[in-house]
Parts: sequence; structure tokens; C-alpha cells
Amino acid sequence: MKKVYVSLLLAICLLTVALAGCGKQTVNKNESKLKIGVTVYDQYDTFVGQLVDCFLTFQSEDVEIAIYNAAQSQQIQNSQVKKMIEDGVDVICVNLVDRTDPTAVIDAARKSDVPVIFFNRELVEGDIGRWNKLFYVGANAEESGVMEGELAAWACLTKKDIDKNGDGVIQYVVLEGEAGHQDAIVRTEASVNTLKKQGIEIDKLGYAIANWNRAQAQTKATQFIEDYGYNIELVLSNNDDMALGAIDAYEAKAVPRNKWPVIFGIDGTNVGLEAVRDDKMLGTVYNDKEGQATAMFELASVLARGGSIEELSDRYTIENGRYIRLPYEKVTSSNIIKYLSR
Ligand code: GAL
Repeated sequence: MKKVYVSLLLAICLLTVALAGCGKQTVNKNESKLKIGVTVYDQYDTFVGQLVDCFLTFQSEDVEIAIYNAAQSQQIQNSQVKKMIEDGVDVICVNLVDRTDPTAVIDAARKSDVPVIFFNRELVEGDIGRWNKLFYVGANAEESGVMEGELAAWACLTKKDIDKNGDGVIQYVVLEGEAGHQDAIVRTEASVNTLKKQGIEIDKLGYAIANWNRAQAQTKATQFIEDYGYNIELVLSNNDDMALGAIDAYEAKAVPRNKWPVIFGIDGTNVGLEAVRDDKMLGTVYNDKEGQATAMFELASVLARGGSIEELSDRYTIENGRYIRLPYEKVTSSNIIKYLSR
């Protein structure tokens, strides 16, 4: 009887251990898998597309990443965020369509206690303060404008043939990104002010909004060529794709190479870097997509296990406990090799 009792006890113990083991395994498996949902304002945006590609390199057996394209609609993006929450993501990464309208995203995330990392399109400060689990990863727009201005100033000071009509003044046009985007407003202002500060006399012939888009920029640049002929000596573009649109316009109009203005962009996208390598664009400013993707992933990993952004302070400067900004870098033909091989 005693023997039967002991065996029964042993069996119960073994069963308990086995069940506990199974249960534990299942729970661990779910807990250890990091689920991140990402929604971008427009998957056809060259820089954002390449940033997402960098982010996807972090996908693995233990990391599930779901990417959604909001196709320029804030309403679509809001529903995508809800869907991600229903799917049980640990962290949401949002490239806002309308950076002034993050309310629905914030409310939905807050209700379900899912942290949000906004990236590339910076929400206004008042909004990030609405909950303590909202963060931003990006770069400092002003820095990129200053660097573009420095590159252009260096060119004007060292290459006298840029001033084609020899009037001592550089006639320029600006291609701007989306109206209301922090990178458009601030970059234009900073690059123009930097040129002036460096003692370059400049004269603005015109500007056009081309929404970061190569085809739109080609149309606008074609108009510039028709309006100002060979008088344009410098093109300052808020990004590489629009600089490439200007190059397309000069090529399509078969303007002789020695009549082209010098052209500068920002981003260092693959196509942008190739244009610098091929001497069509004189310089660009590297928008560190690898660095931004890595920072987003590291922050997502920390937040998913309930940690604090401050855990990353050995690697990044954390601003106001909410922001991580990666530095820009200047790219010209002299250091292009380093960037082409990234
Ligand atoms: C900027 C980038 C642009 C465009 C924009 C989209 O940082 O320079 O090319 O991608 O973000 O928000």
C-alpha cells in the first residue's frame, strides 16, 4: 500500500514537473519573441524605403517585424496601428503621415499600453509629452542644412567657374520637400544662412516644392530651366531624389555639361551616392539610415521588456529622455568610397 502511494506521489510529481515545463516553455517562447509593427508614410519614398530595408535586417527567429505602407493617408495609418495592437505587437514604430496629427496613434497605443517609437517625421514636442512611452528616433534637420550649406560654400570658394556670369554673386534655386515637414523648412533655411555666413553672395532665382519626389522635381527643374536658362549656378535640394530630378531635367533638355549648375542633395541614398561618384551631384549629406535603424531596434528591444531609454545612454545621446538623433555626415567625391561600400 505504501509502495502504491509512493509511486502515485512520484507520478503526480513527474506530471506536475512535465506540465510546468511545457507551460513554461510555451510562455517563454511567446515572451522571448519580439514583435515589432512598423508603418511608413509612403513605401515608395526612396530614403524611407532604404531605412526600412536596414530595419528588416534585424528580423530573425526571435524577432518578427511587420511592415505596413500607409500610402500617404493618416486614416489608413491609424487603422494599421490598431491592427498591430490587435496582433499583439510589443512595440510600434510610426513614420507619421501627418506629423501634426498623431492623436489617434497615441490614444490607441496608450489604451493598450504599447510603446511607440516615431521616426523620421518628427511630431511636435507638445505631442511627445502626452505619454511617457512615446519616443523619437531621427536626426537633427538643422545640422543637415548647415552641412549642405558648408559643402556649397566650399565649392563656391574653391571653384571659381561656378559663378558662370562672373558677377560675384551665385544665382541659385531651391527644391523643397513637403510643405510643413521639419526637414524641408529647416534644411532650406539652414543651408541658405550658412552660405551667407561663409561670405558667399547669393541671389535666389526661385524655389519649388517637389515633395521629396524625383519626378516632381524634374518637372519643376524643367520649368526653372525654361524660366532662367543657363543663369542658374547652384541647385540646393532638400534631398537626393529631388537633386536627381534636377539632373534628369538637365539631361532631358540636353543642356551641355559645362552649362549645368552645381547640384547638392541630402540623404546619401544609393542612387544619390552614385550621382556623387559620377560627378553629377557635387555633394550630399549622409542621413544615417543604418544608425537610425539600429537605434530604433535597440530601443524597441529595451522597451519591449519594460526597460528605460536611458539604458542606451552609453551609445547615444538621449535628449529629454525621449529623443535619439543620429549625426549627419558630409559626402563628396573625396570620401565617397566609404559610403558606397556601406
Ligand atoms: C527626410 C529625407 C527625405 C524623405 C523624408 C520623408 O529625412 O531626407 O528624402 O525621405 O525624410 O519623411
